[in-house]
Amino acid sequence: MLAPVVEGECVSLHPLRTEDVSQRYVRWLNDPRVVAHTMAGNVEHSAESVRDYVRANLDDPAAYLWRIVRCGEHIGNVRLSNIDISSGRCELALIIGEASDRGRGIGSQAIALATDHALSMLGVRSVWAMISARNEQSIRAFRRVGYEENKRIAGYFNHYGEPVDGIWMVRA
Ligand SMILES: CC(C)(COP(=O)(O)OP(=O)(O)OC[C@H]1O[C@@H](n2cnc3c(N)ncnc32)[C@H](O)[C@@H]1OP(=O)(O)O)[C@@H](O)C(=O)NCCC(=O)NCCS
Repeated sequence: MLAPVVEGECVSLHPLRTEDVSQRYVRWLNDPRVVAHTMAGNVEHSAESVRDYVRANLDDPAAYLWRIVRCGEHIGNVRLSNIDISSGRCELALIIGEASDRGRGIGSQAIALATDHALSMLGVRSVWAMISARNEQSIRAFRRVGYEENKRIAGYFNHYGEPVDGIWMVRA
């Protein structure tokens, strides 16, 4: 689905379309510092494969894919997926592309904007994220905006061939 614009104080969320796939965005996805702890690691990305991913999200009636925008600049992405009214849940994942933008409160603001949108506009009662147990920065960013650790799933992530536990975090 085409995501709606969501305005926040310092960052806003805008729909991510195929024409937004820049070389910079593709570089983020091939940077182990960005994707090592996510499901986007372990594979090589190209402009074509990323455009295919964006198209698949636009065609998916249970997904919203946003650009995170600060001062007019695309600095990362946040995605709601598996939006399921019958179970009352959806999933959230995000990246902030440049190291200089991480650890400055932007990620937690983007999580809060997307989560509040899901809870107030999409008819779900809870939002969940699966986070690598090694991704302390992400766990802290989610905690900061009200997510709680729900359970630990052994070996959920594959960290370059090594199984790593996943932490299922939920905000209701
Ligand atoms: C995870 C991510 C989205 C968080 O966004 P962010 O803008 O860096 O997060 P924030 O600045 O809002 O919050 C970061 C928290 O981690 C802490 N932190 C910062 N650097 C850290 C580090 N190197 N190690 C551990 N914690 C760190 C901050 O102090 C803050 O915690 P606090 O609120 O308890 O003080 C971002 O770091 C990122 O894109 N990482 C790579 C991709 C990724 O892991 N995505 C998550 C998949 S679910």
